[in-house]
Amino acid sequence: MKKLSLFLFFLGLFSASESLRRQFRPGFINGTPLRDHYAKQFIDPDAYTDCLNNPEKFNVKRFNFTQPLDHFNSSETRKWSQQTQWRNDTFKPKSDGDIVFLLIGGEGPAPLPWMCFTSYTWSQLAVEHGAFMFQLEHRYFGTSVPTSDMSVPNLKWLTTEQALADFNAFIPAMNKMFNFNKPKWVAFGGSYPGTISALLRMVYPNITNGNIASSAPLWPKLDMWGGAHCVDMYPYTANSSSSIENPDVVNTINLVKQEVAYYLTLAGPFGGSNGMDTTPLTSMDTTIKATPLILIFGFVLCFVKLL
Ligand SMILES: *[C@@H]1O[C@H](CO)[C@@H](O)[C@H](O)[C@H]1NC(C)=O
Ligand SMILES: *[C@@H]1O[C@H](CO)[C@@H](O)[C@H](O)[C@H]1NC(C)=O
Ligand SMILES: *[C@@H]1O[C@H](CO)[C@@H](O)[C@H](O)[C@H]1NC(C)=O
Ligand SMILES: *[C@@H]1O[C@H](CO)[C@@H](O)[C@H](O)[C@H]1NC(C)=O
Ligand SMILES: *[C@@H]1O[C@H](CO)[C@@H](O)[C@H](O)[C@H]1NC(C)=O
Repeated sequence: MKKLSLFLFFLGLFSASESLRRQFRPGFINGTPLRDHYAKQFIDPDAYTDCLNNPEKFNVKRFNFTQPLDHFNSSETRKWSQQTQWRNDTFKPKSDGDIVFLLIGGEGPAPLPWMCFTSYTWSQLAVEHGAFMFQLEHRYFGTSVPTSDMSVPNLKWLTTEQALADFNAFIPAMNKMFNFNKPKWVAFGGSYPGTISALLRMVYPNITNGNIASSAPLWPKLDMWGGAHCVDMYPYTANSSSSIENPDVVNTINLVKQEVAYYLTLAGPFGGSNGMDTTPLTSMDTTIKATPLILIFGFVLCFVKLL
């Protein structure tokens, strides 16, 4: 009996330390954060639509910034309009330097909701730091199309170099236009814009103070299976009923579920072979709930018997 109670006591201690360790470790599956990080991003669908139709209601304003078609050929005089979104109700001017956040547009129209709602990671940070907020659409996407069509000759100016040079023109112009005091720019980008964000620091380190490159592919490969992980997680985080009705999406979800289940069996409950915390949330919760009971039971038994 003494042995059993000692065993239970140490089991309880181990279980307690294990559950504490888990509780304070962020839930990541192969780098993708789970739990409330995403929960905070779910936005009321009516507010979402409202933002698309009336961004001004959310203090988001738009204007077109004029860019040269070709930053590297002075004989090319054609210009185009780059969509710029901004808001300043988050902005707190500072005597030691204004903080300006720039969300880098990617391979699609620049999404207004990322400006309208302050529940995204970048916009939460903007509020926290009293930052002025910009989002700049990428050339050739959304309304920021420099050419009359997308014919192959007209795609000549769709290059990373040109896209980076757009920022080299944009940032100093905004400093003048909004008269920022000793501005400190921080650019944010996820996925392809994350790549741009990193490259921007390399190519133009003189225009921003620091950039965030999130999930940024920096090492292009032909068979880039790692990119599939990003897509894998999408069905778990997206909340669009229309996409759920699409058979392709359903098939993808089923495949993804199988794949995730496979990852979960690879890693055991205590870290597993790949060292990543892939314990399903439910089993984690069970461990946490059962811990006090095991601990108290072991503790009581142990001391009653030892005394
Ligand atoms: C910006 O330019 C686009 C494309 O040329 C145009 O559709 C849009 O109305 C312009 N926006 C503003 C605010 O002028
Ligand atoms: C520069 O632009 C001019 C005017 O459009 C064009 O004739 C010339 O071919 C361009 N040069 C290069 C290197 O693209
Ligand atoms: C924000 O911009 C408006 C002009 O649209 C200006 O009146 C206001 O003072 C600005 N607010 C801050 C905090 O800079
Ligand atoms: C930053 O560096 C680039 C490239 O060297 C240059 O074109 C640009 O004028 C510089 N900008 C500022 C604000 O110094
Ligand atoms: C997802 O959408 C459904 C149906 O529109 C809604 O009932 C549910 O609350 C949404 N979930 C989240 C987390 O927003």
